[in-house]
Amino acid sequence: MNQRIASWLSKLRLHDSSTYHHSIRVSNMARRIAAELNLNQEQTQKLVLGCILHDIGKIFVPKSILGKSSVLTHNEWVLMKQHPIWGNDFLRNEGITDQDVTGAVLYHHERPDGTGYPFGLAAGDIPFCARICAILDAFDCMVSGRPYRKSITFADAKIELWENRNKQFDPYVLTVFLQMSESYFIELHHTMNSEYDRQYLSQNDPPYLLSESAFLG
Ligand SMILES: [Fe+2]
Repeated sequence: MNQRIASWLSKLRLHDSSTYHHSIRVSNMARRIAAELNLNQEQTQKLVLGCILHDIGKIFVPKSILGKSSVLTHNEWVLMKQHPIWGNDFLRNEGITDQDVTGAVLYHHERPDGTGYPFGLAAGDIPFCARICAILDAFDCMVSGRPYRKSITFADAKIELWENRNKQFDPYVLTVFLQMSESYFIELHHTMNSEYDRQYLSQNDPPYLLSESAFLG
């Protein structure tokens, strides 16, 4: 794997390991849904990179906020909601300017009904990679749980996603995600309960990551 990307992920893992493992799971799901969406190799690589880095801005959010098990205060939420912007700024400062990649980072909390953050974009203005990332991000958060929320079953998570189509999630991408084979979700469930994602960084060259130059503007 590209050494700089690996170093950013290591920094994230040291700052907040649960966000790091979440990011790895989201990127693995991204690789799978890319095939279902018939994305080509380049599109797939950009989506996967955007998804693996979607929460990289959380390295600038205090650990006390990321790990808080009670409801965040208003001021804590203000800081938390900055992470897409901070992540985008971080990547651009590092020379990552590809808009599919940075779009997943900057816009993955936008919602089709315009109630998302940081910009409250309407459905048609949310980049495709971000719409995909939003679904995978929400699904993983639901099934893996958060400090402030217990995990729910895959079945309940799918229902919750579907109930929020159009409001929170792109209905087309969501339909494709929910129609992925049951065997895939069984495999995913098994993977989440294994050490799979912990082994990720020990792989030197995951085949789906382009060389860094592909993402430099
Ligand atoms: Fe996020």
